[in-house]
Amino acid sequence: MKNVKFCPICGAKKLIHSFQLNKASEKAYDNGAALTPPMGWSSWNLFRDKISEQLIKEIAEAMDKSGLKDAGYQYVNIDDCWQSSSRDENGRLQADMINFPSGIKALSEYVNSLGLKLGIYSSNGTLTCEDYPATLGHEAVDADTFAEWGVEYFKHDFCHNVPVPTKTPYIIKIGVGEKYKQDICVKYASEAVLTGNARLVEDKEIDGCHYIKGLCSRNGTAEFNDITVPEDNDYVLTLTIRKSGTDDKFLVICVNGEDEYYLNAPGTKSPTPEGRLQIGIRLRAGKNSIRFYNPIGSKMDSAFFQYKLMGEELKRATREYAEKNGTEEKKIVYSICEWGFRSPWKWGREAGNLWRTTPDIMANWLSILSIYERTVRLGEYAGIGGWNDPDMLEVGNGELTYEENKSHFSLWCMMCAPLILGNDVRKFIKPDGSVDRDNKVYQILTNKYLIGINQDALGIPCKKAKGFTKSPLIDILVKPLTNARVAVCVFNKDNKPCETEIDINKIADTAGVNLKKKASYKVFDCWEEKAFETSKIKAEPEKHGVEVFIIE
Ligand code: GLA
Repeated sequence: MKNVKFCPICGAKKLIHSFQLNKASEKAYDNGAALTPPMGWSSWNLFRDKISEQLIKEIAEAMDKSGLKDAGYQYVNIDDCWQSSSRDENGRLQADMINFPSGIKALSEYVNSLGLKLGIYSSNGTLTCEDYPATLGHEAVDADTFAEWGVEYFKHDFCHNVPVPTKTPYIIKIGVGEKYKQDICVKYASEAVLTGNARLVEDKEIDGCHYIKGLCSRNGTAEFNDITVPEDNDYVLTLTIRKSGTDDKFLVICVNGEDEYYLNAPGTKSPTPEGRLQIGIRLRAGKNSIRFYNPIGSKMDSAFFQYKLMGEELKRATREYAEKNGTEEKKIVYSICEWGFRSPWKWGREAGNLWRTTPDIMANWLSILSIYERTVRLGEYAGIGGWNDPDMLEVGNGELTYEENKSHFSLWCMMCAPLILGNDVRKFIKPDGSVDRDNKVYQILTNKYLIGINQDALGIPCKKAKGFTKSPLIDILVKPLTNARVAVCVFNKDNKPCETEIDINKIADTAGVNLKKKASYKVFDCWEEKAFETSKIKAEPEKHGVEVFIIE
């Protein structure tokens, strides 16, 4: 994706982008945000639709007063149900007009005044999961709105998504001309250079008519060359198409191998065989080339395309807002919430800063265990600026035991998961205003050693290490850290306590671990907060429990 410009011909904002799915995992989103996994709080896990400006303010105040902010939790994220069901008179999203009386900009300023950042939510669909207005087709205006509000985290769900069509219109001819004037250059289907499955078809119903077929699903391209115009300018491109079937269609238009525009064409049952598609494009004086193709071949392509589009809009919007107002740019962490069905770990890194790996978490052990198992395998896709997201934390919610809460937190730290709290952090403040430091959930969430593992600047998620134990119910997780250290987590999935011994020399032999072999190592037990020297660690995690060590 390159630029977004105002099209002087259509008057509309047109997205100009380049779409290279094959390079997805090579190019990072690179907005300079989320260099380590983001840390914050979200309203969804506990409060669902029962949210208000008052609640968000109270949560932000509690994060400030309780020391959660100082522990690293900076984002206060409003999830679904903040919106009014109507956009405002300018087509912009607006908050519920009763529950958020000051609006999101004022709330964001308040949250900022406490040294925290505000996050917001929508869906890459026509509506959110709770059926409020969402961003699909409104990407530019919604990104502008979020930038203007000063939000710094955007979670983008996948409910009510409408995929980009894989079908493509059949092209009879193209014309280029200045607006309100005659075409100055017309090219017929037979003049195009075709690749792949693209082919010229003779129309049986319209005498002498040929059209280009076979551009769908990344299968072929059609290029028209020598489109000659007198000067650098915006021109109207008119495509005469052969109508075919009721499926919606999609086409990317690439001008001079640089700028790319996209076109949606509705499926039709209308009686006339020919249709017309028009769009404003920028051409340069002299000869130009225009190539047509459809890069969408699958549901994965479509999701990537749509998320990338929004991601680029967010970057543009924050940059433009800062330039216009002479303020420092507030980058938006872009959180992709596609639930893992379309392998977002393969393309999420190019489209945004984090991507959900699974459907929704629930505050029970089975849910946490299954999300962990699915995510821990995906470590190779995550790294600085782009993270696997096994969903927001349920620590302190539901019926999780102390050990389960501790394990849930430790596993998320080891996997370099975003640490987005989902509990009622107001409970950490006692009625007399002091912090309840004896609260076990508080102690878990503020364990600075675990947070340090999660936030380590190397940004390398843990891997399951093999050959340490025969039990399928014990996982040994190994995560390289800065300064030639390594974090090791012994995770007991069994329904009873277990005992295991870890030979640190074998950890040092593990691929990717930068630990020099020695007779004895400095070991720090992150939950017991005890340091000792040894070459073998004896771990005895409780049922569903963990022990976590930093070794150097
Ligand atoms: C989806 C998401 C959740 C939450 C809800 C809100 O289910 O996966 O995390 O945002 O929508 O409606």
